[in-house]
Amino acid sequence: MEKKVVFSGVQPSGALTLGNYIGALRNFVELQDEYDCNYCIVDLHAITIPQVPKDLRSHTLDVLAMYLACGIDPEKSTIFIQSHVPAHTELAWVLNTITYMGQLNRMTQYKEKSKKSEENLNAGLFSYPVLMAADILLYQADYVPVGDDQKQHLELARDVAIRFNNKYSDTFVVPEPLIKEFGARIMSLQEPTSKMSKSDQDKNSFILLMDDEETIRRKIKRAVTDSVGKVNYTDEQPGLKNLINIYSVLSGKSVEDIVNMYKELSYGEFKDDLGEVVINALKPIQDRYKEIRNNKEYLEAIYAEGASKAEKKAIKTLRKVYKKVGFIPRG
Ligand code: TYM
Repeated sequence: MEKKVVFSGVQPSGALTLGNYIGALRNFVELQDEYDCNYCIVDLHAITIPQVPKDLRSHTLDVLAMYLACGIDPEKSTIFIQSHVPAHTELAWVLNTITYMGQLNRMTQYKEKSKKSEENLNAGLFSYPVLMAADILLYQADYVPVGDDQKQHLELARDVAIRFNNKYSDTFVVPEPLIKEFGARIMSLQEPTSKMSKSDQDKNSFILLMDDEETIRRKIKRAVTDSVGKVNYTDEQPGLKNLINIYSVLSGKSVEDIVNMYKELSYGEFKDDLGEVVINALKPIQDRYKEIRNNKEYLEAIYAEGASKAEKKAIKTLRKVYKKVGFIPRG
């Protein structure tokens, strides 16, 4: 039986956070034995917000090295850079013509980002989810592992696939999101009601995957909690709930066990242990990352091979699409 297909991507728009790891990268690794996995570094998406070209180049390699350091295996999965496979932009154009402006207008991420960048409100930011739909549909992905914040974009990708299939006959697999119950939304350490994000102005609000031990300890110590004073897992204590989620995912212990372990102890003691849990989880990744990141030849070989593998798959779908919409094959 053919393996089911998985597709996901990460933007090279800055250093990756613990949220990226728990919500996405960690799950990418788990899926690679069972599925035909495609993991992309979405540089075309990244330029919808202003980027310094040399930083974009280095962030692209950072994400690639981080994929590998987390355990994504190029022998099992296809790892590639989005701009290396032109079929992504080509399919996005076709899909743009069947996507409604009204639906794009309702995307919460667009609304948020457009508020932040009023003077750079470019059309790319608006049609961003269409390019994302193209990414997914090109590979006929059955499943898309993502964090909770990408749910609405996935819904749009499904709508577009169904609309195209209805208009031109069955062409695309309609993808399903894979969103974990725990860890799909890691919150800011400073404002536990909003998402942990690498673009946050407050550096204490996120943990970067490459933060050193002291920084991790300090950021967790400073994490906002509450005045209840008892370790518990409830919506009334959102800061603590977030920290317990992190603890649980990274240690493999259940929420119940964690609450039992710490219910008689202080927040300080809980945070000290959480610091060690995070450090221990990140240490092997950081070590591997340092080994790989400066090996340019190795990284080049991986992305070149990945692009060829990805292109073969993508071109099959693109040909079908071009034929169905009525384009004449070049011959
Ligand atoms: P990006 O680069 O913002 O984030 C990469 C992945 O990390 C997840 N994530 C989180 N998960 C839990 N808690 C958080 N605080 C947190 N922050 C980020 C995101 O949900 C995502 O899974 N549009 C996508 C990139 C993309 C894509 C795709 C994804 C482009 N094409 C096709 C899947 C399929 C994005 O901006 O992710």
